[in-house]
Amino acid sequence: MPKTQAAITGVHGYVPEDVLTNKDLEKLVDTSDEWITTMTGIKERHILKGENQGTSVIAVKAVEGLLEKINTKAKEIDLIICCTTTPDIVFPATANIIGNKIGAVNAFGYDLQAACSGFLYGLATGSQFIETGKYKKVVVIGADKMSSIIDYTDRTTCIIFGDGGGAVMLEPTEEDYGIKDSILKSDGSGEPYLHMKAGGSRRPASEETVKNREHFAYQKGSMVFKFAVKNMANVAAQVMERNNLSSEEVAWLVPHQANKRIIDATASRMGLAENRVMQNIQHYGNTTSGTIPLCLWDYESQLKKGDNIILAAFGGGFTWGAIWLKWAYDPK
Ligand code: UT7
Repeated sequence: MPKTQAAITGVHGYVPEDVLTNKDLEKLVDTSDEWITTMTGIKERHILKGENQGTSVIAVKAVEGLLEKINTKAKEIDLIICCTTTPDIVFPATANIIGNKIGAVNAFGYDLQAACSGFLYGLATGSQFIETGKYKKVVVIGADKMSSIIDYTDRTTCIIFGDGGGAVMLEPTEEDYGIKDSILKSDGSGEPYLHMKAGGSRRPASEETVKNREHFAYQKGSMVFKFAVKNMANVAAQVMERNNLSSEEVAWLVPHQANKRIIDATASRMGLAENRVMQNIQHYGNTTSGTIPLCLWDYESQLKKGDNIILAAFGGGFTWGAIWLKWAYDPK
């Protein structure tokens, strides 16, 4: 009997309208367009503005666009996995808020937090429910409103992050397409280099935590950079090696968009030329869980059935990983 595999059958993304350029940031902190462009590759990022606008606003736009595109009703969805580091509220899960807003009355949902590797963890997890035959339609969302946890007086973090996200539908196929292999890693000793100090159960919000600006993302960039370059490249190469995939056989690398220099190092380790590496960091910056689905969305019209695609990410935690998938449809 042919093995059931989980294939991506559609993708859609959303970024908010408001744009924050490097020039805008020059007015907020001591930085320059030239420094940001040279050191990260980022030119602008999108910001979700307005009262009571959480990550679910981004996710709902992405999922509604996805459902329309693939002609699927919300009530057909079995499961919603929302990968995010910036949930609307601590509880209930943002996946449930999204499900309620779109009318996914037959779905259960949960959030998955693995920082910038969240979407990879979500894809690997969601595909298991399809492969076992338990469910038929699993929506995996990667979305973050990073501007809600960024300190716009801290030049080492505010230049990198933006808001946005995307969603994919996973469905079963008996053909040889879909998620083929995944390597997921985490190392909790990375906590001091990338974290948010307060707002959890260890250090709940108080007057003091607010005064000390502890509700913002803190990053020791140079340390994270070193780990990211090494680990993202290693795991991407590893998933190719253990599946006997040569560079020529890989159609696309979809790297997490944190820094163009990390992307270039990973592509070089895999032996891939720049024209086979998805990149939109210049427009969106680092949208955490959103980067990989946003890349798939932007490049969807160039993807062909059977393309070997490697997704790779590195993020806070530390978390990192790589997934090999075979794209399941031609441009529509
Ligand atoms: O997605 C989650 C994982 N995150 C990442 O993968 C991010 C990884 N890290 C990075 O991308 C880089 O570390 C950064 C782009 C954030 C920073 O680049 P760096 O080469 O690691 O810079 P650095 O932190 O070592 O700082 C070098 C210099 C310092 O000045 P001095 O001490 O040498 O005089 C910083 O103060 O650059 C200075 N600097 C800036 N200058 C202008 C730091 N941020 C800025 C800035 N504008 N925005």
